[in-house]
Amino acid sequence: MADMSNFDDFMQRCQSQIEAALEQRLPAADKDPKKLHEAMRYSALQGGKRVRPMLVYAAGQAVGATIGTLDSPACAIELIHVYSLIHDDLPAMDDDDLRRGRPTCHKAFDDATAILAGDALQPLAFQILSNDEQIPDSTRIRMIQVLTQASGSMGMAGGQAIDLESEGQQLTLPALERMHARKTGALILASLQLGALSNPQTSDPQLNALETYGKHIGLAFQIKDDILDETGDTETLGKPQGSDRQRNKSTFISLCGLEASQQRADDLLQQALDALEIFDEKAGPLRQLAQYIVQRDY
Ligand code: IPE
Ligand code: IPE
Ligand code: MG
Ligand code: MG
Ligand code: MG
Repeated sequence: MADMSNFDDFMQRCQSQIEAALEQRLPAADKDPKKLHEAMRYSALQGGKRVRPMLVYAAGQAVGATIGTLDSPACAIELIHVYSLIHDDLPAMDDDDLRRGRPTCHKAFDDATAILAGDALQPLAFQILSNDEQIPDSTRIRMIQVLTQASGSMGMAGGQAIDLESEGQQLTLPALERMHARKTGALILASLQLGALSNPQTSDPQLNALETYGKHIGLAFQIKDDILDETGDTETLGKPQGSDRQRNKSTFISLCGLEASQQRADDLLQQALDALEIFDEKAGPLRQLAQYIVQRDY
């Protein structure tokens, strides 16, 4: 692996930044309804790699955005992601008990509270974006359009529906890639778009390059998630290893095997890096994030 010491630093800075930003924006745990607010905070705070916020910050840095304008989009995308994880773990979906090294929301609280925590985190994301007066109105509207498109039936929620429908079946490779592009790729692509939009001066070629990077790295991200479900261990992953196999999910591993899946992820990494050629060294964190996504072990 290339020298990633700068990247460790970037990752830590992003992680503390997003933690503080979320802490500020989530409702207090002692505010009624307390159980709902506790559940929202339990799932959103102190956990996760924060890859999507890192992508927002890194894309923002690549296009020279002002740092202060990146916190709201970074929080918004992370809150949509957290809501998707809470619902993904419910008994009616993947039925998993462990997430980010702790009991899943419905285990720590109860099913109804977990459903409602997801329901409440989703509009909070849009509230944070739409209320941020540091962001020009026209940019805010574009950001909200990006996030609605990425989270809805043509994005994450649609991908999750296809994932559930295809349990016990073998999808073709193009169909599997279309599912991954929605269930995981859409929010990753949106993270890049939000970062890029944070600077109104971002050019179309820059936006296109970031979108190409985002599509490749988004697919690579889910391929790696599928690989880790097969080869990781529960403690390192912080979520149950083998969940996909147990539920007969259509994954890259079930269709292509481990070696071809790893090869595909490596090829996508290269394509993602190629897309960044038009950027200077300000895109360094994005380049390192791409490597991290493919080489991580949880
Ligand atoms: C897990 O996402 C769910 C997928 C979309 C594959 P992450 O691997 O980003 O989970 P956290 O946020 O680090 O917990
Ligand atoms: C979930 O994919 C994608 C989401 C939209 C949350 P997975 O079901 O593979 O995610 P994990 O492995 O449980 O984190
Ligand atoms: Mg799932
Ligand atoms: Mg799952
Ligand atoms: Mg998975």
